[in-house]
Amino acid sequence: MSGLYKTLIRPALFSFDPERIHNFTINALSIVSRRKILCGFMGEFFSSEPMPVEAFGLKFPNPVGLGAGMDKDAVAVPAWESMGFGFVEIGAITYHPQDGNPKPRVFRIIKENAIINRMGFNNKGAEETARKVAEYKENGNWVKIPVGVNIGKSRITPLENAAEDYEKTFRILWDLFDFFVVNVSSPNTPNLRQLQDKDELAKILTVLNKANDELKNQKSSPKKPILIKIAPDLSYEAIDEVLNLSKDISGIVATNTTITRPETAESKVAKIYAMEGGLSGKPLKDKSTEIIRFIYRQTKGKLPIIGVGGIFTAEDAWEKITSGATLIQVYTGMIYEGPSVAKNIVEGLRKILEKEGIRDISDAVGIHKNL
Ligand SMILES: Cc1cc2nc3c(=O)[nH]c(=O)nc-3n(C[C@H](O)[C@H](O)[C@H](O)COP(=O)(O)O)c2cc1C
Repeated sequence: MSGLYKTLIRPALFSFDPERIHNFTINALSIVSRRKILCGFMGEFFSSEPMPVEAFGLKFPNPVGLGAGMDKDAVAVPAWESMGFGFVEIGAITYHPQDGNPKPRVFRIIKENAIINRMGFNNKGAEETARKVAEYKENGNWVKIPVGVNIGKSRITPLENAAEDYEKTFRILWDLFDFFVVNVSSPNTPNLRQLQDKDELAKILTVLNKANDELKNQKSSPKKPILIKIAPDLSYEAIDEVLNLSKDISGIVATNTTITRPETAESKVAKIYAMEGGLSGKPLKDKSTEIIRFIYRQTKGKLPIIGVGGIFTAEDAWEKITSGATLIQVYTGMIYEGPSVAKNIVEGLRKILEKEGIRDISDAVGIHKNL
């Protein structure tokens, strides 16, 4: 399937504007998602044997998740499950609905297996997302895999009111999702990344943890895991400061896209690299792995890490896992490798485990020899 995708389907898709094709695909998958029979049919192609993992109190059928930003408004979650993903992170969702930045705002760098985007949290807002997901659930059409939600600050909310903005989204969506990822690392909302500063982050986490406790008591159900998603452009000192708050979080998602660009001698590539936005895909791979290693070492493996950045194959996923990631996510890899990416990674990981004589994927976390 992945051969067919790369030789025939991908060139056709790549002849269109990236955002147009993205919207077309998401619409098609949202139609599939509303029909169990179609999801079942897709599952026949793309599902794989379980490779169970547990993290922050949740059970995952396999460690390969879909990264935030692909299904911003949670319209196609059943389709992602049928595509073999072990979990999905929807969003980013903001309290206020917003259109995001002016188009064009997504650019492919095919030669480098990369993307630059400056979407700017285009989404339908927390209320509408809650309505849509509740409807899916009421129709008995929701999924068994864990579904997390990436929450961002609304653009119109000033930075000093960020904590309340996150809190409103958190409260509206609390019942509906299995875990929350606080996004303070997107380069595409002005000044958002300043919220990675320890005092700002502490403020947001205090408010969210208080709301979490309150909602837990009100609804008599367990607290929701809260994770932080960080940028790959933070210094190690700044990451250490985030890690000082580790008692207030259930895990870290490492990493978001980068504002840095690699050297290139190719003028065509250089022209796209000059675009404003976050770079993802292959050029991000090593940087995000370095950060995962750093976090794993600093926390002695005690804080679960979702590793994301430049994962295309089982070997890439293995590198992230052995560097300290309990779970991994794919975004750009899905665009370049196609719909069998999750299955291929899970099956490839199974082969690597067999070769290495390791029974359980969790036993591979952090075993890299250069850690
Ligand atoms: C078009 C696009 C939109 C994205 N939107 C979000 C987002 O809303 N929230 C977020 O936390 N990350 C977002 N990301 C970042 C991805 O979730 C991921 O962290 C990053 O792309 C690195 O992984 P990759 O190399 O597998 O793409 C987006 C990435 C892309 C390419």
